[in-house]
Amino acid sequence: PQAKKIKLRSVQDNLQTRVVVQGWVHRFRSQKGLAFITLRDGSGFLQAVLTGDLAKARITQELTLESTVLIKGVINKLPEGKSAPGGVELVADYYEVIGLAPSGEEAFTNKVQENADPSLLLDQRHLTLRGETLSAVFKVRAALMSSIRKFFADEGLTEVTPPCMVQTQVEGGSTLFKLDYYGQEAFLTQSSQLYLETCLPALGDVYCVQESFRAEKSHTRRHLSEFTHIESELAFITFDDLLNHLERLYTYVIKQVVEDPVAGPLIKQLNPNFVVPEMPFLRMQYIHALDWLNEHGIPNEDGEAFKFGDDIAEAAERKMTDIIGKPILLTRFPVEIKAFYMKKCADDPRVTESVDVLMPNVGEITGGSMRIDNHDELVAAIKKEGLDLKDYYWLADQSKYGSSPHGGYGLGTERILAWLCDRFTVRDCSLYPRFTGRCKP
Ligand code: 4AD
Ligand code: MG
Repeated sequence: PQAKKIKLRSVQDNLQTRVVVQGWVHRFRSQKGLAFITLRDGSGFLQAVLTGDLAKARITQELTLESTVLIKGVINKLPEGKSAPGGVELVADYYEVIGLAPSGEEAFTNKVQENADPSLLLDQRHLTLRGETLSAVFKVRAALMSSIRKFFADEGLTEVTPPCMVQTQVEGGSTLFKLDYYGQEAFLTQSSQLYLETCLPALGDVYCVQESFRAEKSHTRRHLSEFTHIESELAFITFDDLLNHLERLYTYVIKQVVEDPVAGPLIKQLNPNFVVPEMPFLRMQYIHALDWLNEHGIPNEDGEAFKFGDDIAEAAERKMTDIIGKPILLTRFPVEIKAFYMKKCADDPRVTESVDVLMPNVGEITGGSMRIDNHDELVAAIKKEGLDLKDYYWLADQSKYGSSPHGGYGLGTERILAWLCDRFTVRDCSLYPRFTGRCKP
């Protein structure tokens, strides 16, 4: 019979059917006159068995890992006791090699050891991506993105695409990437927040999925020079509304991803102990976090007890989240350690209506706040930061034309994935990671 062309994700729907499949040779072995190819096409895996002349053929003897092949045959359920992906096997009656991959010691394959030199692995990222672990992370990533978009649609947010090339800073001058823009100074965006704020009066609540860029000087497990920043801005909300929204977002989105037919099983493999967050999250004020850290003998960056105004840096923050072991909404950070645009708390002007979402094993995965909405206060804050008002005229201007209490946040996509997939570093969650010193491939 005519063979039906299928992708490997639909193998189970085509049992007892003669199919034609194409893909990459993921595994290959010959034994007792039979040859077994585990085929991979990105949508799934399928074991094909070659018998008789097909197994003996020269093209089979010379087949290499990562070659592309086309195979025709019938898909059968395997009897109990024999194992192959999906419990099925394709009995081949025809096959051809489309592209033969290099052979020998030198050949780089998906089999490359997980404990090889990380920098060699990164040089070969175009090939290591083919491995089972990395490709699983990017399948989960795709499910995460679509679930987040679905959440935003349900909450009535409109997606926008702000510019990447800008002339303003958002999160401090020290991490700006500068570029020569037709002779003028410009930067790669650190955050699209200020642009999102200007969209509120036009489009209502908005979000964007945009790369953000930070010239981070230090090598850490959770800092990239380029990361996918999912940011949202909400009009006429209170600080409590913002916290509730974040709780809804994380519980809804993570539940969806874990229940996704593709991503769910992969998360189980990568992170068998993952716990889906449940409402309500632990809410902790910065000032109480300091007490908690001091009680647990966790010191500040100078090795001393924490005092008001200290930054809770990465190491201390992660120790705290690991011990507490569940999501934390850490709130009300001091004015001096937070960004210029953050609104002060009405009951205590030393602190801001700000929040970081902390997750076990990673720490901060989201930062957000209410924004200064009073024109004069905003102008004063811009000046106090040492910024030139003429670069921020549009932000200041829009606060004159119908101000609203508003706030928003930024999600670090790679950090969410590191938490969800239990990766040691965010570099494993970015397709082609950029960090200090690396911009290839
Ligand atoms: O806390 P951040 O710097 O906040 C902002 O940029 C706000 N303007 C966002 C907003 O309110 N619209 O960054 C937000 C999140 C962090 O919590 C973290 O998850 C991620 O972005 N992030 C990074 N991820 C990887 N590498 C880096 N260098 C990152 N910097 C921030
Ligand atoms: Mg932050």
